[in-house]
Amino acid sequence: MNLELAGHVAVVVGGANGMGRMIAKTFAAEGAAVALLDRDPAVDEIAHEAAAQGGATLSAQVDVTDFEAIQAVATRVENELGPVRHVIFTVGIDSGKGGFPFWNLEPSDWPRVHDVNVIGAVNTAHAFYAPMIARRQGTFCFFSSVAGQIGSQTDPPYSVSKAAVLSFMQIAAKDFAPYNIRANAICPGMVDTPLQRRIHKFSTADLPEDERPTYEEWYTEKIGRLAVLGKLTSPEEIAATVVFLASDHARTITGQAVNVDSGWVMHW
Ligand SMILES: NC(=O)c1ccc[n+]([C@@H]2O[C@H](COP(=O)([O-])OP(=O)(O)OC[C@H]3O[C@@H](n4cnc5c(N)ncnc54)[C@H](O)[C@@H]3O)[C@@H](O)[C@H]2O)c1
Repeated sequence: MNLELAGHVAVVVGGANGMGRMIAKTFAAEGAAVALLDRDPAVDEIAHEAAAQGGATLSAQVDVTDFEAIQAVATRVENELGPVRHVIFTVGIDSGKGGFPFWNLEPSDWPRVHDVNVIGAVNTAHAFYAPMIARRQGTFCFFSSVAGQIGSQTDPPYSVSKAAVLSFMQIAAKDFAPYNIRANAICPGMVDTPLQRRIHKFSTADLPEDERPTYEEWYTEKIGRLAVLGKLTSPEEIAATVVFLASDHARTITGQAVNVDSGWVMHW
């Protein structure tokens, strides 16, 4: 399928690792120019790797909680790469602590997760929307999770932040619609990334050593029990969904929580 993304400018926030890294490379492979933003200095190296696919890239080290810094990068992207067409916000952090019950955490464990996962998404939308609505063209893709839809107890601040991301995405989809701009959210189930490995660590840390599952044992049991297909999703499969949603083949898809999760959450 020709997605016709060649020459488009895509911004991937959280492009240094995990799914964001694969999404940036996939847009580049489709012929798009890509801006990679991340607080991790590795973002420069990943931008070089993405550039090897042929298109122009730009990288910037930025913390998504710093609105002025993202705004400055947004201006730089428009000047150096051209009119931004797609904005993908993949950033997400965990609290580093497990629930079951939520009072295993302190109230002070909540604000940073909220600031990065929710306010980061809001900051990004504010930084990029104005020229896009002036041109009446573009797409936004936010990252939520199955955890935001099912009251997941694994990491309570994380689950709540992901529900908030879905609500913001729906508001954005309504506000953007008159300007021909779409907004959707990807809700992954389990994907092998640095974040998932951190979740394995903290959610098994309290078990006696001889009962502690390896990473592979942990995810195999969990996805097998919770999702009907019982398979891990790969970063490549997430990236394929993101570029499809950015393309005109998805021109009537907006305001959706798209579960890419092996059939964990089903809605209609
Ligand atoms: N891995 C999974 O199984 C899974 C499941 C459901 C949802 N998700 C969501 O998918 C998205 C991608 O997850 P991932 O597993 O690729 O995560 P990851 O931890 O591998 O990558 C996240 C990226 O965000 C960057 N980042 C973190 N805080 C930042 C900040 N303040 N400013 C700028 N950059 C920052 C990190 O440096 C990293 O490059 C996240 O929103 C996550 O919550 C992941």
